[in-house]
Amino acid sequence: MASLYRDDAELYDIAFDWDVEEEVDWLLERLGPGCRSVLEPGCGTGRMLVAFARRGSEVFGFDLSESALAIARRRTAPFAELATVAVADMAEFVLGRTFGGAICPINTLGHLSPAQLATHLECMARHLEPGARYLVQFGLVDPDSHEPFAGSHWEASRGETKLRIDWVDEELDAERGQSLQRSRIEVLEGPRAGEVLEELHEMTVWTPATWAEMVAASPLVQLATYDASRRGDRPRVGADATGGLLWHELRAKHSPA
Ligand SMILES: C[S@@+](CC[C@H](N)C(=O)[O-])C[C@H]1O[C@@H](n2cnc3c(N)ncnc32)[C@H](O)[C@@H]1O
Repeated sequence: MASLYRDDAELYDIAFDWDVEEEVDWLLERLGPGCRSVLEPGCGTGRMLVAFARRGSEVFGFDLSESALAIARRRTAPFAELATVAVADMAEFVLGRTFGGAICPINTLGHLSPAQLATHLECMARHLEPGARYLVQFGLVDPDSHEPFAGSHWEASRGETKLRIDWVDEELDAERGQSLQRSRIEVLEGPRAGEVLEELHEMTVWTPATWAEMVAASPLVQLATYDASRRGDRPRVGADATGGLLWHELRAKHSPA
């Protein structure tokens, strides 16, 4: 696991703590009025969990990083009766219950190999109530494009701490379905000012064709794709869309619409 998630979860939490309120409203709309409980595999520090709990949803998040979960637990403490966080592996998990909906934002599934993603989707299907949606934010690569795929640069601050974050492709091989991404977090201000955390992340990448094959072989079916690169809008796009910020709406096969 990336040391950013394990050893520097506090900095990760500042870096990724942008405003998700409008996005969570949109996700709840997609999950539908019957959705009372939301599962988030790879929930990290719980920024999404708390936004759902604030709206009255019961939430269950799990992750492999104990330190990220400690922050998630602290953050969801005011909603203790609604929120559960636990250690579990996205690739293989048994929670002993089902959920009214599920979400997985910001390319978290890129941490799984193709074999792990296959077992992940099987596990997800077993944990969804009939008709429940699984909203996955996952970028798809255009195999013919030579444009960089990951390429984000932003600043974030909390209290005295101010960070500059760069997250870029180091290598991208769409044919082999692999990418190497470099994260660089520079602490500009605050108690850790001057520190620079750099790390390489081996990620699995998917093209529209390989993603469609993976979903077709799974117990889930893809209902729609939305492009979140247009904030506040997220138009529905075709299954051949590419880009870093696509949301895929999935549901278990043989489940009521
Ligand atoms: C990009 S972060 C996203 C966290 C959270 N979903 C969010 O939106 O802030 C990816 C998370 O996936 C977790 N992760 C990676 N591989 C995992 C696995 N096999 N099982 C569970 N969690 C995993 C990491 O520890 C990290 O917290």
